[in-house]
Amino acid sequence: MNNNLYFALNIQNDKDLKTFAKAAGIKLARLKYYAEEMIYPHKSDLDKILHFTGFSELEFQLKTGFLNTKLKQLLASKSADIAKLLNVGNQCKSTEEHFKPVFTTQLGELYQTDSIKLMKSLPKESMDLIFADPPFNLDKSYESGINDKLSKQAYLDWTEEWVLGCVDLLKEGGSLFIWNLPVWNTYISEILNKYLTFRHWIAVDIKYRLPIKNKLYPSHYSLLYYIKGDKPSTYNGERRPLEVCRHCGGEIRDYGGYKDKLNPLGINLTDVWHDIPPVRHSKYKTRSSNELPLKLLERIISMASNEGDTVFDPFGGSGTTYITSEILRRKWIGCEIGPTDTIQERFNGIDFHQEVISRIQKEKNVPFSEETRRKRIQNKHWLPDTLGEKQKS
Ligand SMILES: C[S@@+](CC[C@H](N)C(=O)[O-])C[C@H]1O[C@@H](n2cnc3c(N)ncnc32)[C@H](O)[C@@H]1O
Repeated sequence: MNNNLYFALNIQNDKDLKTFAKAAGIKLARLKYYAEEMIYPHKSDLDKILHFTGFSELEFQLKTGFLNTKLKQLLASKSADIAKLLNVGNQCKSTEEHFKPVFTTQLGELYQTDSIKLMKSLPKESMDLIFADPPFNLDKSYESGINDKLSKQAYLDWTEEWVLGCVDLLKEGGSLFIWNLPVWNTYISEILNKYLTFRHWIAVDIKYRLPIKNKLYPSHYSLLYYIKGDKPSTYNGERRPLEVCRHCGGEIRDYGGYKDKLNPLGINLTDVWHDIPPVRHSKYKTRSSNELPLKLLERIISMASNEGDTVFDPFGGSGTTYITSEILRRKWIGCEIGPTDTIQERFNGIDFHQEVISRIQKEKNVPFSEETRRKRIQNKHWLPDTLGEKQKS
């Protein structure tokens, strides 16, 4: 029972849990909820816990790790005494190992190992861009056989370790993107806010489950975007085509009298992305699940790095980040704990991916895609190049 609350209350198994709940007068389900959801006990239950254990609230907070600002300030004011008392000093021995890549390309190196170990062996502050798409702890079965059903605390402890590894690897001005379910990214933000600068919480509109009773329909993945330091070394802003009716090509929004002032490269990309289709079609699919679309990685890598920069992704999967980096002429370092043959095979079909990416690139930084242009000409809608004439007439 690897859990801070259970540890504080000396609960080691289900029997201890039941005994404690009964003796302290707290409902068993409630006690489990506080522990497993890592929630600070509500006042009436907290009083029962304190009364039963004899802890002061301060001791309870220290034992469970619920440190509010006031408590942190108090600890800071006594830091010298506490350090002496703990006397752990700087005993951390480096457990650095050396790894050999299982696959290399002109620009990249792929390692087959645990990414936390690999990160410790890589030079600090060496990455311009890091993208991470970890398992979501949804009990999915991965080829690698990893446990995807950890307790919340175990998942978050592991998450903190790899997130801090990424922070160490990022160069000053470098960008970190983390793709996860919104609920997990709320915790990851809490970690990152202490080390990096927040840029965006990007909502990527993809439906990933059925509607849930008594809740909103979950329809977005969260993509966190942080940078190291106060300004990014690279930001290549992307512009998107105007939103149009797919039948007639007419614009959906009313740009009123401002049409002539529209940027000829299209509309500024917002922090809500509606245009990332999930990988469904077998033609594009490299493995059965968890594969991210090339369009997503093309956007991130183009936006936050330049040719020749180094991109790191600690969770390889089917290697979407690596193939995209290679095509966009970025150096890359990859890692996958499970089999890596799908990633390697993907590189055999790099021409196909190159074509897909070329198509994706043709549709950005333009006011209308080629197809839309054709429809607009057919239906006599304005185009940036004909706007002046149309307004004159
Ligand atoms: C969600 S998938 C990544 C999918 C990838 N973004 C793509 O587009 O194909 C997560 C991957 O991380 C791998 N993984 C899990 N734990 C790992 C670890 N500690 N080190 C390296 N890889 C790990 C899993 O085997 C899985 O393939």
